[in-house]
Amino acid sequence: METLCLPVNENSLKEAARLLREGRVVAFPTETVYGLGADALNPAAVKAIFDAKERPADNPLIVHVAQSEQLQGLCLVTETARRLMDAFWPGPLTMLLMKTDRVPDITTASLPSVAVRCPRHPAALALLRACALPVAAPSANRSGRPSPTCAAHVYEDMRGRIPLILDGGSCQVGVESTVVDLTGDAPCILRPGAVTAQDIARVAGQCTVASSVMRPLKEGEKAPSPGMRHRHYAPRAKMTVFVGDDKKTAAEIIARYDRAENAVILSHASALPLFGGRRVFSLGDTPMEGAHLLFRLLRDMDEMGASLILAQGWKAEGEALAVMNRMARAAAFDIVNL
Ligand code: TXA
Ligand code: MG
Repeated sequence: METLCLPVNENSLKEAARLLREGRVVAFPTETVYGLGADALNPAAVKAIFDAKERPADNPLIVHVAQSEQLQGLCLVTETARRLMDAFWPGPLTMLLMKTDRVPDITTASLPSVAVRCPRHPAALALLRACALPVAAPSANRSGRPSPTCAAHVYEDMRGRIPLILDGGSCQVGVESTVVDLTGDAPCILRPGAVTAQDIARVAGQCTVASSVMRPLKEGEKAPSPGMRHRHYAPRAKMTVFVGDDKKTAAEIIARYDRAENAVILSHASALPLFGGRRVFSLGDTPMEGAHLLFRLLRDMDEMGASLILAQGWKAEGEALAVMNRMARAAAFDIVNL
């Protein structure tokens, strides 16, 4: 199959909407990462997403809508969900709600809940409006690769597998949406993103974070979200993350770099001069900048054939939790606190 990559405009949006209505798969930009979309209520269309991604069938998809009214008949919108939608939609917040029979089992991997989100990227919203369908969309990477934050990354992974990629430039947030489970007594974050636990608690009164967000699952432990069971965000290189004062982490990174062969460093922007003469790339100075750059850097490091990645991280709390959750997984939880 030939894979077209078209800039977002009226014509390409029309073509993308037509393909979606025909049950085909289309990649499109969102404010978090690129998504691989298909009609969420058409089991054959959803199956084509799983095939293109080589995604395990037990990992459910997020259903994207242009506005909350589109959820009618698909899931039970609770009072808390309504308040969170008013506060954070359109935006990078995905909510788990109890589903109705209209949502096919393949979309939710037979779970009783469905994940729903209204993205705020103008191209995503325009596409959702044009096709007038709820669109199931996981991140547009092949399973086990970092999520794509630009159209070229989607093309790398999806070339020959899907008919169309809409190119809307680079994604602003850079890591996937916050996933919050609203089916229990209190909102519980299963995957941290740009909307933080503090943000949610301010609106919902309370919010917890699943403990497995910053540690590996124990043997036999049930994953709160199926996505957490699967290997994720995995660069080919071995990776270690260092957290602490810039000078201390830089000293430890330099010692390891100089002993290793083919190592690379991901450093805070302000710490770059500390690594003089070594192969070093900037993660920016804030956790938000780090989130925006991380997935691109992980792909670049693979491309360069690096065998060891030594990265400066941030304390895993507040708005740094999202980027540190991804860095921890990329590093198979090899985190050194200094
Ligand atoms: O930012 C995002 O959320 C992007 C863009 C495209 O919207 N999408 C995305 O989808 O990251 P995906 O499929 O890569 O990640 C969805 C996560 C997975 O970890 C999945 O297991 C979890 O959400 N999930 C989806 N439905 C669920 C459900 N019913 N119960 C528990 N976890 C669920
Ligand atoms: Mg994904």
